[in-house]
Amino acid sequence: MATRPALLITGLSGFLGWNLAQEAHRAWAVAGTYYRTPRRVVQAHFGAFATGRIDLTQLQEVREMLAATRPDVVIHAAALANPILCERYPDDSFRSNVVATSVLANLCAEREIPLIFVSTDLVFDGTRAPYREEDPVSPVNVYGEHKALAEEAALDSQERVAVCRMPLMFGPPSPTHGSFLQWMLPKMAQGAVLHLFHDEYRTPVSAQVGARGLLQVAGRFLSDAEEPPIVGRLHLGGRERISRYGFGCLVQEVGGYAQARLEPVSVHDFKGPAARPPDVSLDSERAYAAGYDPPPLREQLRTVLHMVQEG
Ligand SMILES: NC(=O)c1ccc[n+]([C@@H]2O[C@H](COP(=O)([O-])OP(=O)(O)OC[C@H]3O[C@@H](n4cnc5c(N)ncnc54)[C@H](OP(=O)(O)O)[C@@H]3O)[C@@H](O)[C@H]2O)c1
Repeated sequence: MATRPALLITGLSGFLGWNLAQEAHRAWAVAGTYYRTPRRVVQAHFGAFATGRIDLTQLQEVREMLAATRPDVVIHAAALANPILCERYPDDSFRSNVVATSVLANLCAEREIPLIFVSTDLVFDGTRAPYREEDPVSPVNVYGEHKALAEEAALDSQERVAVCRMPLMFGPPSPTHGSFLQWMLPKMAQGAVLHLFHDEYRTPVSAQVGARGLLQVAGRFLSDAEEPPIVGRLHLGGRERISRYGFGCLVQEVGGYAQARLEPVSVHDFKGPAARPPDVSLDSERAYAAGYDPPPLREQLRTVLHMVQEG
């Protein structure tokens, strides 16, 4: 068997990192980092992939990790990815989102390792959707601001960088992190009332579909790739624009949660700590033209619910 190329995933213990590792491990020799996840949890669940515990803001730790794992490509999925926590703890957000990306990007450049930085649709203010890659960023909360700064740090570090902006994602949880689906499903099963925004729009994909998109980009950085690398900003959104409420209705229908009680509410009636852009739908034509092909949302949801319900 040919030797598999080496892929380093930062944030392996996270929701996306874990789903990425599951998608990647057949074609890639995967190594991944964790941070606050307890060692016993790592040993029980992530053993096959995990490197040591890494604080990505610590230059020497990251340097040693890159020297030990010698990746052909790095996908940087680690982040403080909860907008409410970023708003409450902006210093932590700056460290985990901006400093960590800058440290990692500069060390990848030093070692000539191509880097994929996982970014977000929340770099936009939500007033001019659908957003294309060349649209100026316009974040409305600390998380979006820091992800936009991190994008710049990654892009400034070297030429072999792809900044992949992900849409809202749903999927099976990692052993320690989940998606909004893990909040929604128990409430639906119990018949509890769910208040969902009818005026907040995204272009969601499942974590599997998003992971496949990222791996396609990763594959094109390999020396034997048939097609040239994709560098710069790339949107990996789904094909359907849908509100949170619309998505909830789809989950109810596809999952067969007849007892669920969904109530549409307006984002204007919600005063949370972090501002919420109304419509950050992504125009992902650049990625579609390059072969990224998200299936219909209903189909993605059916696959994910099957995985989640089967355990
Ligand atoms: N989930 C979505 O719907 C979504 C949508 C758009 C974009 N994104 C982007 O996708 C990426 C992954 O998001 P996610 O939802 O998977 O996040 P998540 O579940 O919260 O996972 C975050 C990961 O980052 C690690 N981490 C945090 N701070 C760290 C630090 N200082 N040093 C090292 N590792 C650190 C965490 O490790 P420990 O848990 O071990 O501490 C964890 O593995 C992020 O870049 C996010 O901006 C996510």
